[in-house]
Amino acid sequence: MRRPMVAGNWKMNGTRASVAELIESLRVQALPVSVEIAVFPSCLHVAQVLGGVDDKHVAVGAQDCAAQNGFGALTGEVSAEQFAEVGCEWVLVGHSERRLVLGETDEVVSRKFLAAQVGGLKPVLCLGETLEEREAGRTLEVVGRQLAQVLDDHGIAAFESAVIAYEPVWAIGSGLTATPEQAQEVHAAIREQLSRQDRQVAEGVRLLYGGSVKADNAAELFSMADIDGGLVGGASLKANEFGAICRAAGN
Ligand code: PGA
Repeated sequence: MRRPMVAGNWKMNGTRASVAELIESLRVQALPVSVEIAVFPSCLHVAQVLGGVDDKHVAVGAQDCAAQNGFGALTGEVSAEQFAEVGCEWVLVGHSERRLVLGETDEVVSRKFLAAQVGGLKPVLCLGETLEEREAGRTLEVVGRQLAQVLDDHGIAAFESAVIAYEPVWAIGSGLTATPEQAQEVHAAIREQLSRQDRQVAEGVRLLYGGSVKADNAAELFSMADIDGGLVGGASLKANEFGAICRAAGN
């Protein structure tokens, strides 16, 4: 049995005051213990969130980490070791905004995946196709290629302590959610690709869906066989919505 997971990606949002408010409203939410819950604030607010949720079962993660491990001369970057040392458990790797807006290649994403694990964090590897790629019928090819880079570089064993998030780019922040069937098709293909290397590892890897997940579509998405939870952007900034999504994952 895979434990469901709901992850909240706060992206480039928040001030000290609004983060304090969000923490307070999260604290009063009924959050099911059967669900693993993590939030990903901006790296500026990581410490504030860690201090605010320390008695709730909400883990904290980073939205990105350096491809280089340890400490040293790399201006502006934060290493996995630094995030782990303050108490982060997770890191998003290869979010489409980083791939498409900031030019991260499959190869860079793969290096960050390894750096995360070496530095003591569990990566959430994000995969997904653009609208153009979907319309050209290339969804499975693109997602397969993104996954293959990490699988070929680091092997199937690396997925024993990693989570994968399928996030179609056209569904992110657009209000357009993939249908449960569209998402399930891709999730099944991801699991099948992992399974060709090791069936047992493949069965254990949690596959999250991301892209306009909300309280009112979460249950339907999470009812699919290979959808083990969600990576939630916009709706994770509203504690009530996020709490309801977590509860949907627990049912
Ligand atoms: P969204 O973002 O829920 O606002 O669509 C999801 C994500 O980018 O992780």
